[in-house]
Amino acid sequence: MTVDLTGQDHPQALRTRLAGLLAASRARSTALVDAVDEADLVAQHSPLMSPLVWDLAHIGSQEELWLVRDVGGREPLRPEIDGLYDAFRHSRARRVDLPLLTPSETRRYVAEVRDKALDALEHVPLRGRRLVEEGFAFGMIVQHEQQHDETMLATHQLRTGAPVLHADLPPSGRPLPVREVLVPGGAFLMGTSTEPWALDNERPAHPVHVDAFFIDTAPVTNGEYAEFVAAGGYDTGRWWTDAGWTHRVEADLVAPRFWVRDSGEWYRRRFGVVERVRADEPVVHVCAHEADAYASWAGRRLPTEAEWETAARHDPVTGRSRRYPWGDEDPTPEHANLGQRHLRPAPVGAYPRGASALGVHQLVGDVWEWTSSGFHRYPGFEVFPYPEYSEPFFGGDYRVLRGGSFGTDPAVRATFRNWDHPVRRQIFSGFRLARDAAPGDGPADRADGAA
Ligand code: AVJ
Ligand code: FE
Repeated sequence: MTVDLTGQDHPQALRTRLAGLLAASRARSTALVDAVDEADLVAQHSPLMSPLVWDLAHIGSQEELWLVRDVGGREPLRPEIDGLYDAFRHSRARRVDLPLLTPSETRRYVAEVRDKALDALEHVPLRGRRLVEEGFAFGMIVQHEQQHDETMLATHQLRTGAPVLHADLPPSGRPLPVREVLVPGGAFLMGTSTEPWALDNERPAHPVHVDAFFIDTAPVTNGEYAEFVAAGGYDTGRWWTDAGWTHRVEADLVAPRFWVRDSGEWYRRRFGVVERVRADEPVVHVCAHEADAYASWAGRRLPTEAEWETAARHDPVTGRSRRYPWGDEDPTPEHANLGQRHLRPAPVGAYPRGASALGVHQLVGDVWEWTSSGFHRYPGFEVFPYPEYSEPFFGGDYRVLRGGSFGTDPAVRATFRNWDHPVRRQIFSGFRLARDAAPGDGPADRADGAA
């Protein structure tokens, strides 16, 4: 049905592929930590974030637990440090006060762990245990490092001082022919049971019914969002939910995070560079409450998580759920703005090859998209391989975000679920709008919209 994604028919090909992914995520982690000096690595840039040196050691610690001790069957390298790098033991705000490894000790530690993990990759049979089938444990640890690379990028965005990260501009945009498309109602197979490295909360594939809805072909842009700000959106309680308005007042929100106003123009600070806000880029660094308020001001709403995934995966011709909006092919730089290749969202229309069958653009990459859904287990959910990844968060004060951002590794899947508190906006979060379809909105409208 699908291509040989992991090379499971050729164990050596799978090992080579995993070694390449481990090296690539480490190259990114190294670039993010090597960009700053020692004082900066151990500093707390925001109570919302860990010191960068904590993230790096935590990456090594998780790799040691799973690949060196569990898969590799080796003795602990530094058992005394396990507790320091357990995310459940210490809040991000308190990690700076722990007796952490120094930057040079951390670099040595993660290098030593990596050597032993690669040794395990070479010698341990990748079968016989579900944990290693199709290289899962290695794929999981690669994804864990990739996730922390995005977290470290968010820390970079919060740090002040001269710019240290640089990247090329994304491709240029072009106006899209239509603003929204009709997604017909019906059955949709949500989640996955076949992606070998899907994490537990993405599983299993399960049928859902989705009523017909309209979804925008692009995320809400800075230019559109600035109109909401100019229209007094932040001063008008009726656009906000009760919880949203309470937060808007308490946190004194006036615009997206990192926006600053100067002589009647909006500027933003982006990795240390202050620049004019570009009207045609998706808005980023807004919380779910801001997204909700904008949507009600615009007479619209956020998509549910099931609607978002339907828009991103449903193939209207075959009825199948695709791996990505554009089909089953892994993302390339022509499909989506991923992988920290460009350190900003790309303008609307920059990725025509990444559009869905119905003509919805930039679902994957650019900005994480807030949905209206809380984070819940799928029917048939099973913890795998450890409860702390997803389970403690189900049913909590979280909203699901979908699609990945410019800071997310291309390994992100269209089934991947991110979640955060609705007040958070240091993440690379934006949103797109949806609305209910009325009974008269027929398939003819969809054909027009998909042109
Ligand atoms: C999936 C981004 C919500 O960073 O909090 C990292 C991922 N879990 N280490 C997070 C995660 C354990 C998680 N998010
Ligand atoms: Fe982690």
